[in-house]
Amino acid sequence: MHNTAYYQNQRLQLENVALDDIAAHFGTPCFVYSKNALEQSFLAYKNALGDRSHLICYAVKSNSNLAVLQTLANLGAGFDIVSLGELERVLLAGGDPNKIVFSGVAKNAAEMQRALEVGIHCFNVESEAELELLNTTAAEQNKIAAVSLRVNPDVDAKTHPYISTGLKENKFGIDINLAPQIYQRAAAMDNIAVVGVDCHIGSQITEIKPFIDAMDRLLALVDQLEALGISLKHIDIGGGLGVPYQNESTPSVADYMSELLPKLAGRPQTLVMEPGRSITANAGVLLMKVEFIKSNGEKNFAIVDAAMNDMLRPALYEAWMDIQPTSLNSSATAGLYDVVGPVCETGDFLGKDRSLAISQGDNLCLFSAGAYGFVMSSNYNSRPRVAEVIVDNNLAYLVRARETIADLVRGEQLLPETDQG
Ligand code: LLP
Repeated sequence: MHNTAYYQNQRLQLENVALDDIAAHFGTPCFVYSKNALEQSFLAYKNALGDRSHLICYAVKSNSNLAVLQTLANLGAGFDIVSLGELERVLLAGGDPNKIVFSGVAKNAAEMQRALEVGIHCFNVESEAELELLNTTAAEQNKIAAVSLRVNPDVDAKTHPYISTGLKENKFGIDINLAPQIYQRAAAMDNIAVVGVDCHIGSQITEIKPFIDAMDRLLALVDQLEALGISLKHIDIGGGLGVPYQNESTPSVADYMSELLPKLAGRPQTLVMEPGRSITANAGVLLMKVEFIKSNGEKNFAIVDAAMNDMLRPALYEAWMDIQPTSLNSSATAGLYDVVGPVCETGDFLGKDRSLAISQGDNLCLFSAGAYGFVMSSNYNSRPRVAEVIVDNNLAYLVRARETIADLVRGEQLLPETDQG
C-alpha cells in the first residue's frame, strides 16, 4: 500500500473521513493529510533509533503547513530549514529553536542574524565564503555560531538527476577532500564553534547502500578530523528514505537503521537525520474533480480542476503518482485517460494513460501528494492556491484556507493615471 488512503464500502477515506465528504465540504482541489499517518511515519524513525543518541530534523521543505509542523513538534521533532520563512514557520508552530538545523547554499546575513538570535542548533555551512559571513555576523551579535560543514561525499544516489545532490558535479556542499583544511580554518575562527558534519546525497533514494557509502565517507572524515584535534558532536546523514509511489518496494526505516546504526557503534556522536518525503508523502493526497471528459480521436482526456501549478512533480520530473476515483460506484466503463489540468501548457498533466472508470463530476484522488505538493505550488495562470485540510480520526480541519482573488493581487498596484491631454 503506497498511501494511507483506503477504500471502505467502495469509498476512499483518510482515517475515518470519506474523501468525497471532504470535497463536498471544503471544495476541490484541496490537499488532505492524515494526522495519524504523519505521526506514525515520524515515530518510525524515532522508534528505529531507540536509545541511540539522535535528533530527527524533519525537512520543512517537503510540507511546511503550520499544523503539520505543530503535529511533528508535539512529538519532539527537530527541523531542517532552508530559509528565514521556514524558520519563522517552525517558531510559529511551536518548534524548539535548539533543535533546528539550517541548510541551504545561500543563507544571507539577515537569515543568519535571526537564527543566531533565536539560538538554533546548528548551521549547515556549504562554502568558505558562507563560513566567513557567519563568523562576522555572529561577532556583530556577540554570539558563537555552531557549525557543521556540508560535505559532498561524491556518491551516486541513483535517483532522478534533478534531485540527486551528492555528486561532485552538483552545486551543493564542500568537496570532502578539501573539508579538513576548511574545518581547521573554522576551528580557528573566534565566533564559530565546530560541532558537526553533514551531507545530503539526494532525495527519493530507494536503496540503503548509497546512505551507507555516504556514512562510511563521513566516518573516515570524522576520524581524520579527530587526528587533527577537532572532535565532532554530531553526524548528520541528510534526507530520509524514498517512498513507494506505485508498488515499488522500498526499505523500511527499521531496515535502514539496522544497517546504519552498527556503523556508529562505539562512537559518541549524536546521529542527526533530515527526513522529509518519508514523513509526509504518503500521509497526504490531492483531491480534484473531473470537469470535462474529452476525446481527440485515439486519446481520452480527463480534464480536472487541479493543475501543474498545484502539483508540479509530474510536469517537472515526469513523476508517476497514482490517481484513483474517490468512489468506485461509477457506472462508467473504464477507459485510458490522460489526466490533465486547466493550465495552458502541454506539460500540464498529472498522469498519462491511466485506466479509470469515471464520469464528469467525479472526484479523483492523486496519491502520495503530502510531500513536495502544496509547497511547490504557484499562482501560475492566476490560479489561487488551494486549501489544505488535516483529518484526525473522524474530524477534518481546514488548516489553510483556499486563496481568494484578493490574495492573488495583494501588494500589487496600478500605475498613477497620466494625463494624456
Ligand atoms: N536535507 C536537505 C539538505 C535537502 O536538500 C533535502 C531535500 C532533505 C533534507 C529532505 O530530503 P527527503 O527526505 O525529502 O528525501 N522536489 C523534489 C525533491 C527535492 C528534495 C530537495 N532536498 C521532489 O518533489 O521529488
